[in-house]
Amino acid sequence: MKTAFINGSPKSKLSSSEAILKDLQSCFSKNIEIINYNLRKSFLTDEEIETLFGFDVFVFAFPLYVDGIPSHLLNCLCQIEEAAKNIKDKSITVYVLVNSGFFEGHQNRLALDMMKHWCAKVGFEWGQGIGIGGGGALAGLSNVPLGKGPKSSLGIALKSLVDNISTKSQADNIFVSMNFPRIMYKLIGEFGWRQEIKKNGLKVKDLSRRL
Ligand SMILES: Cc1cc2nc3c(=O)[nH]c(=O)nc-3n(C[C@H](O)[C@H](O)[C@H](O)COP(=O)(O)O)c2cc1C
Repeated sequence: MKTAFINGSPKSKLSSSEAILKDLQSCFSKNIEIINYNLRKSFLTDEEIETLFGFDVFVFAFPLYVDGIPSHLLNCLCQIEEAAKNIKDKSITVYVLVNSGFFEGHQNRLALDMMKHWCAKVGFEWGQGIGIGGGGALAGLSNVPLGKGPKSSLGIALKSLVDNISTKSQADNIFVSMNFPRIMYKLIGEFGWRQEIKKNGLKVKDLSRRL
């Protein structure tokens, strides 16, 4: 079964979507063919679109942007939708992982619904969605084994996703958060923001400046 892992984060490093896809890939046995794509652009070439239609399964992973799909990825989805009008055999099943800065996994519910509607419009099969809260921490946890400590719930969700992908089955969406206290996530996040703004030559009070 040919599976495309499509990373829709625009980040070239420290991407949580990339970390999630790496963890997911580690759960598969070798007899599944996985090709990785990074969609850090707003346009796909005709060749890229043609190649994508040769897959059996798409697994998208992307960050939640303004409660929805990042605009560069949305543009690529529109291109695929247009191209699909000329393709008869579209037996592609779509699985989607969305991660958010907010701690609660259900923040990603609307973005997953958007992807499900897109599948219906294009004529693809919807497989399952996973909404992951506390995504801001994930890139920094890439050394933590999946299923352990803060990645316990994520481990359970990804293993059930692997079972569904392997059989091209459909299942209900799953929503998870990191397994550590929400307050700790908030404090570490705020510490990170203060470091970042100083690195960029501004003051901590500029974080709350109104433009
Ligand atoms: C432009 C922009 C919009 C965002 N909007 C949201 C949002 O609406 N809700 C949320 O929880 N996080 C939001 N975030 C945070 C990202 O979803 C979060 O940092 C995510 O972990 C990034 O994933 P990545 O590393 O795979 O790009 C936003 C980030 C950016 C840059």
